[in-house]
Amino acid sequence: MSDLKPSMVFFLLFILLSVDAHKLSLDFYSKTCPSLAKIVRDTTARYISIAPSLAPALLRLHFHDCFVLGCDGSILLNSTRNNLAEKDMIPNQHLRGFQVIDAVKLAVEKKCPRKVSCADILALAARDAILQIKGPFWNVPLGRRDGRKSSAKQASANIPLPSFNITQLVTLFASKGLSTKDLVVLSGSHTIGICHCSWFTTRIYNFTGRGDADTTMNPNYVAALKRACQLNDKKTYVEMDPGSFRDFDNSYFRNVKKRKGLLQTDSALMNNAYTKRYIQSHSFYGFDNTFFDDFAVSMEKMGRIGVLTGTSGEVRKVCSFVN
Ligand code: HEM
Repeated sequence: MSDLKPSMVFFLLFILLSVDAHKLSLDFYSKTCPSLAKIVRDTTARYISIAPSLAPALLRLHFHDCFVLGCDGSILLNSTRNNLAEKDMIPNQHLRGFQVIDAVKLAVEKKCPRKVSCADILALAARDAILQIKGPFWNVPLGRRDGRKSSAKQASANIPLPSFNITQLVTLFASKGLSTKDLVVLSGSHTIGICHCSWFTTRIYNFTGRGDADTTMNPNYVAALKRACQLNDKKTYVEMDPGSFRDFDNSYFRNVKKRKGLLQTDSALMNNAYTKRYIQSHSFYGFDNTFFDDFAVSMEKMGRIGVLTGTSGEVRKVCSFVN
């Protein structure tokens, strides 16, 4: 240290301080909005108790926010005359739960005007909703700021399509700083929720263009899906995790192992040595503590992707519009 010039020391100190200032923290709003946790929990709980199916919707919303321009609430922005928003692009079709975020934001604004970002509200509401349906708890460090843009092009480039193969999935997740373990663990989110037929009808009706089904799928499962979904069906939806779509458990891994993964991306997890091993070792019956613990780690990691902090971005007044 004694060899360093004073200017160098100042520079290093500056770097250290600015890195520190941009960290998320659990107590970020302890002074500016001490009742935040309770407001989010209570408002989210009101919705989930009436419609528990909104819990998976909020989790998916948080994921789709984080993968496009980072967890900056950009998924919540509406299209304008000059800009097509992320939410209106194909990979974001069927996103639900926006009304919950709007309600939480309204309640938070009443108590702490212009203090809490929509990105933080979405991250908290997703966690609280999953906890309410008896899913895992994860920490949500706070201090994200809201982005000022929403890019349809970025949405198409960053949200995985159900037809992705394992290499595309691993590469996309790695580009977000997420590991192959995060990929398989977070795919475990498909233990809850619904899926519209349009996402997989090609897979069961015309996989190679010859009127056939994907042969990697369990034939009984294909038959059941065909009974539920017509070829050009755009309205019907099925259970994401057949037989257990309301319960946050490890039944998803059991189904993928039995070749009952609904999307090609679910089945593709059997094509990589690591993800296959994870699926096999988490396919037992009973409460899977390790999956819950792993999920908590991966969700906290996902919630940090590309966050805007400090003076970047803004704190939106209304989540669907920039200030
Ligand atoms: C690995 C690539 C992934 C692909 C291709 C994918 C694709 C999809 C698709 C097509 C749906 C059906 C949506 C609908 O029809 O309403 C869906 C549902 C869902 N996804 Fe994913 N997903 C992926 C990963 C993830 C991750 C990482 C998470 C969470 C961290 C997640 C959470 C969910 C949830 C909870 C649902 C149910 C939504 C609802 O019930 O409204 N997915 N996903």
